[in-house]
Amino acid sequence: MKIFVCVVLFAATCCLNFASSTTYEPTWDSLDKRPIPSWYDEAKFGIFMHWGVFSVPSFENEWFWWNWKGAKIPSYIEFMKENYPPNFEYADFAPQFTAEFFDPDSWADLFKASGAKYIALTSKHHEGFTNWPSVNSWNWNSVDVGPRRDLVGDLAASIRNRTSIHFGLYHSLFEWFNPLYLKDKEGGFKTQDFVRTKTMPELYDLINNYKPELIWSDGQWEASSDYWNSTEFLAWLYNSSPVKNTIVVNDRWGKGTPCKHGGYYTCQDRYNPGTLQTHKWENAMTIDKRSWGYRRNAPLSDYLTIDELLKTFVTTISCGGNMLANIGPTKEGTIPTIFEERLRQMGKWLGINGEAVYSSVPWKHQNDTTNPDVWYTAKGGKVYAFVLEWSSSIKLGSPLATSSSSTIDLIGGARNLTWEPLKPSGVKVDIPAWSGLKWCLVLRFNGFE
Ligand SMILES: *[C@@H]1O[C@H](CO)[C@@H](O)[C@H](O)[C@H]1NC(C)=O
Ligand SMILES: *[C@@H]1O[C@H](CO)[C@@H](O)[C@H](O)[C@H]1NC(C)=O
Ligand SMILES: *[C@@H]1O[C@H](CO)[C@@H](O)[C@H](O)[C@H]1NC(C)=O
Ligand SMILES: *[C@@H]1O[C@H](CO)[C@@H](O)[C@H](O)[C@H]1NC(C)=O
Repeated sequence: MKIFVCVVLFAATCCLNFASSTTYEPTWDSLDKRPIPSWYDEAKFGIFMHWGVFSVPSFENEWFWWNWKGAKIPSYIEFMKENYPPNFEYADFAPQFTAEFFDPDSWADLFKASGAKYIALTSKHHEGFTNWPSVNSWNWNSVDVGPRRDLVGDLAASIRNRTSIHFGLYHSLFEWFNPLYLKDKEGGFKTQDFVRTKTMPELYDLINNYKPELIWSDGQWEASSDYWNSTEFLAWLYNSSPVKNTIVVNDRWGKGTPCKHGGYYTCQDRYNPGTLQTHKWENAMTIDKRSWGYRRNAPLSDYLTIDELLKTFVTTISCGGNMLANIGPTKEGTIPTIFEERLRQMGKWLGINGEAVYSSVPWKHQNDTTNPDVWYTAKGGKVYAFVLEWSSSIKLGSPLATSSSSTIDLIGGARNLTWEPLKPSGVKVDIPAWSGLKWCLVLRFNGFE
């Protein structure tokens, strides 16, 4: 009976995910029912990249144009006055976006070495510059000016040729200074000229040409999803696009949609609730604590250490989230060595501890009931404890041995560690002398509940 139930459940899950014959209506009610393709939850770790014309000034953050000309923040005005000729415009930065060292094969190899299972590259940020030859972005795209190459297409080709990483794209619905957008906005978003001639043609173009498996939408907050025609686009995406079975999207599709509608939830930037969530979610965060785009003047202390990054990661996946860790490539097309180091460190750690991460599920406890430095996942009847701080012995409140032959292993180290039950509950585990990575340790519990 039990076996029979499992088979039926498996068949149902399988068919919902892969042989989707469901037709979705262009309403949130209908679209919100689509199951998120399973590759996404299994992946756990992705890499985000903010790369564009803002990578040229690479000053403060990727909102450079807006902060200079829109918000008119004095430090930006001062920076321009001191370093550029008087009539220099934002568009004049574009020819300096040279990307002469951009080697998409080496990026792909680095991402593979990091253990990430998906990536998301800015196809277009709020500045409107497209990193692909969009016919809807005349003279403001990476083939007409600057790199003189299809950055999106070249990276997609390398990722697909050299890795099994899922290729994804970030896309901003709105553009700060696009006259068509500003006109729609002035009229209270009653016209949709910008959506008709820019946003939608771009999104269809990206999907049809590059077949991404993830669209990380953004720039939704000023206008409703009705203005953006988001539900019409998503219904096409799920029903008849070339990626309808594998595509995953986030929740930023109009004012008020984050944490409420769409695919997985991103809620706010760096969202990390610390408790189990009922809906699949993602912690989109930055390795440079203060910016998504590269900053030439960032000191080392502005970057997360590997310990901080791993803490963010394990607290995220314990609660059912994925972590999308952002790096900022340079205008020359390189990945700064500090980001490279963090990514290679992630890969080293995941190379040892991946079994506790990929395809894991949240356990009944997300963090330990008595030890604040321990977080959990589960997989295949085993419980995994991520131990952020440890000494020669640690005490845990949550795991309960189901028999006296239950065992605990240190992943990548000794098996069958010495342990004893604690009263009223929990275990004391002896940690043997350890010459491996000094970062988060991972314990595997066999026969615990
Ligand atoms: C794919 O990779 C192989 C070997 O790494 C290389 O020979 C080939 O040219 C690449 N193809 C494309 C389309 O990049
Ligand atoms: C929005 O979707 C409706 C219904 O499919 C369509 O008639 C309209 O032209 C679309 N508008 C834009 C701007 O894409
Ligand atoms: C576990 O996490 C919850 C929610 O973040 C928190 O309230 C609680 O204090 C944590 N427990 C420990 C032992 O840190
Ligand atoms: C684990 O170690 C104990 C002694 O410390 C031993 O009795 C037991 O058989 C070991 N179990 C396994 C599965 O190796």
